[in-house]
Amino acid sequence: MSQKNDNLIAVLDVGSAKTRVLIAELNEGALRYRGHGIVESAGTRKGVIAEIRPAAECVNQAATAAEDAADATIERCVISVGGPHIRGLNSRGGISLGSRMREITREEVRAAVDRARSVSLPPDREMVHLLPQQFILDEQPGIHDPIGMVGNRLEVNLHIATCSASAQQSIVTCANKAGLEVTETVFEPIAAAEATLSADERELGVCLLDIGAGSSELIVYFEGSVAHTSVIPIGGDHFTNDLAAGLHITAPEAEWIKCNYGNAVVTSVSQSNEIELQGLTGFEPRMVRQRFICEILEPRARELFHMSRDNLRHGGVLEALGAGCVLTGGGARLAGILDVAESQLRVPARIGSPVPLSRMPSEMAQPECAVLIGTLLYTHRTSIMRAAEDNSLRAKLRAIFAGSL
Ligand SMILES: Nc1ncnc2c1ncn2[C@@H]1O[C@H](COP(=O)(O)OP(=O)(O)OP(=O)(O)O)[C@@H](O)[C@H]1O
Ligand SMILES: [Mg+2]
Repeated sequence: MSQKNDNLIAVLDVGSAKTRVLIAELNEGALRYRGHGIVESAGTRKGVIAEIRPAAECVNQAATAAEDAADATIERCVISVGGPHIRGLNSRGGISLGSRMREITREEVRAAVDRARSVSLPPDREMVHLLPQQFILDEQPGIHDPIGMVGNRLEVNLHIATCSASAQQSIVTCANKAGLEVTETVFEPIAAAEATLSADERELGVCLLDIGAGSSELIVYFEGSVAHTSVIPIGGDHFTNDLAAGLHITAPEAEWIKCNYGNAVVTSVSQSNEIELQGLTGFEPRMVRQRFICEILEPRARELFHMSRDNLRHGGVLEALGAGCVLTGGGARLAGILDVAESQLRVPARIGSPVPLSRMPSEMAQPECAVLIGTLLYTHRTSIMRAAEDNSLRAKLRAIFAGSL
């Protein structure tokens, strides 16, 4: 019989192509893989849930498969949110600490962050993360932790990650219908970064592009903080649809051809290679040059990175990519895509494979699982940070009241 276990953490990624659930166990501070379930998504369109019932059924199937593998039941999960509706914006705000110089407390840091976050958002926008980039104390920038420092005016530069409230609510509803309570939401590019980027890359400046099926999420880290987040409305499905239209074949056949014979660089495949296409019902199978397939894929890949480059330039971070570019998501598996990324962005590029959990099967350590694994790692890391904050608050209260007992 499956066991209920309070040490379990479950995460859910409702993608345009795949719905994924991962269950891990927290044992003496270390995360251990317990089980996962991955099913083809249904009811999603262009990166958002368009029909609740089929999408919820997929969540149910993926969660059940994960529970069976883990031999445990789950009641709660953390979700990731991404898609064409996500936005990031930078904001600045601060507080005066009065005329007398004194030490800055945690409450004052919170108050400064509250000022910086009080931007007016359009209706139906939800703030998912508030990410301090740097604090500025009496006009001295570059401070990461001002608690305990002394000054008159504290300001903060904040990156605010937002999403459509209704798109987020649709994922919550699907999880609820599958019997899962949602405890937290993580921005997909932040999750992918958590699973794949090193501290050195974040410090030097790095761009991560998670190429999903419906869209590609973009995040830039510089000097250790999030400098920019955005989304490019092109994903792997656009490549597949181009092939289906150009070759007059079905979308499933185009998907198979793309994954097995596709290449984003035409000149890297031999002129003489030919591939047999089944074609549409009623037509005879026929041969097509592999180069012709790549001639369809290459312009789409160029467009994806051209748009990424424009986006980075508008965000003022194109020159901040000292550590280059990292690609995650299933779309990163397209042969030749790194070459296109390097030539368009003019920085080195690599595939981001997520750091493996203890006992995790190797098929999970792939770029398309970066968001799922990163959501788990992010949840774990932030819960440790929150616990440390609570403990230090308790220690302070104990110290204050120690003399009065
Ligand atoms: N070997 C491969 N070559 C090329 N493309 C691939 C390969 N494997 C997977 N893909 C593409 O990756 C995409 C799916 O990626 P992923 O699983 O990250 O998407 P998703 O998370 O479900 O979608 P989204 O993030 O957009 O909601 C599909 O378009 C698929 O065709
Ligand atoms: Mg995805």
